[in-house]
Amino acid sequence: MPAIHFERERKSLDVLPGTNLRTAALKSGIELYSTLHRVFHANLEMGPVKFPCGADVIEIVEGKGINARTPEEEAVIAGRWFLKRKVAPNMRLACQVAVNGDVTVRTMPVRELDKEETKQRVGFLGVVGGFFLLMALMLGLIGLDLVKLI
Ligand code: FES
Repeated sequence: MPAIHFERERKSLDVLPGTNLRTAALKSGIELYSTLHRVFHANLEMGPVKFPCGADVIEIVEGKGINARTPEEEAVIAGRWFLKRKVAPNMRLACQVAVNGDVTVRTMPVRELDKEETKQRVGFLGVVGGFFLLMALMLGLIGLDLVKLI
């Protein structure tokens, strides 16, 4: 029977092969989410489009008895919106890990910000945001002109 060792909590769980790591952790009272994410985390699914919350990041300290990480999972760990974080090869989303052998896990690992990529994203969003603001302003002026207020 595989065992999951939670390093920070100093707790071990014996689980059935194929057990989902997130489910096992939450069932035994091990917290995977930061305070903010405990309130706001949501995995959204709209047809074929999925928006996983990316809040249950863990680090596999030791052990190989788990399924492989997918590119989508890596993208979620890195962050899809404003902030881009560096992703170590042993970082996983707990909800995506199936345990088939002994593993040692570190919950809520410190994640380093990828400053260059984040700067580029913020710059791009600034340009796009400025464009939409300008368009809204022009539409507003056109609307005022139509009702003869200016
Ligand atoms: S629970 Fe949200 S990504 Fe794992």
